[in-house]
Amino acid sequence: MYAFEEPGSPPQFCEEYDLTVTVNGCLYQRRIPARMLLSDFLRHELHLTGTHVGCEHGVCGCCTVLLNGEAVRSCLLLAVQVDNMALTTIEGLAGSAEELHPIQRAFQEKHALQCGFCTPGFIMSIHAFLHEHPDPDEPEIRQGLAGNLCRCTGYQNIVEAVKLAAHYLRSSQSEREEA
Ligand code: FES
Ligand code: FES
Repeated sequence: MYAFEEPGSPPQFCEEYDLTVTVNGCLYQRRIPARMLLSDFLRHELHLTGTHVGCEHGVCGCCTVLLNGEAVRSCLLLAVQVDNMALTTIEGLAGSAEELHPIQRAFQEKHALQCGFCTPGFIMSIHAFLHEHPDPDEPEIRQGLAGNLCRCTGYQNIVEAVKLAAHYLRSSQSEREEA
């Protein structure tokens, strides 16, 4: 304990800021502590608990979300850093309750999860990866997955799911181009 801390009193966040952010297409405005992590903001302020928190220091990838389309670790950002930006979380991927996103569908069909704790982070990372690499080979997929940890699956089914997801996304892209 530091000399200036009162015994038994929790540390206080002294500064607060107004934050405006778009998450999954909805605009949110909140007054938040300056030191609030983005992962905590999503989970505790917006109740978007699909973004999971594992290591809290950028190693496991469970907390990955898309920030202006790029995969970022929400445990390594302060919420105030995303002021006036657009985020997508796992809750924003599916078109409707009935219709999974192609990456989610591929995970389901290839049995690419067991407990599912790591799954939202994998799916958001893969979303960004396939945007950059629409037709990846297996070494590229393994490299693309290297920043996310799973304790359950052994990864092979996740690799298979990425191949299938890439196929689904390419097919829907060519259907759109032909229409
Ligand atoms: S919780 Fe953010 S990388 Fe592990
Ligand atoms: S499915 Fe359990 S940690 Fe990945």
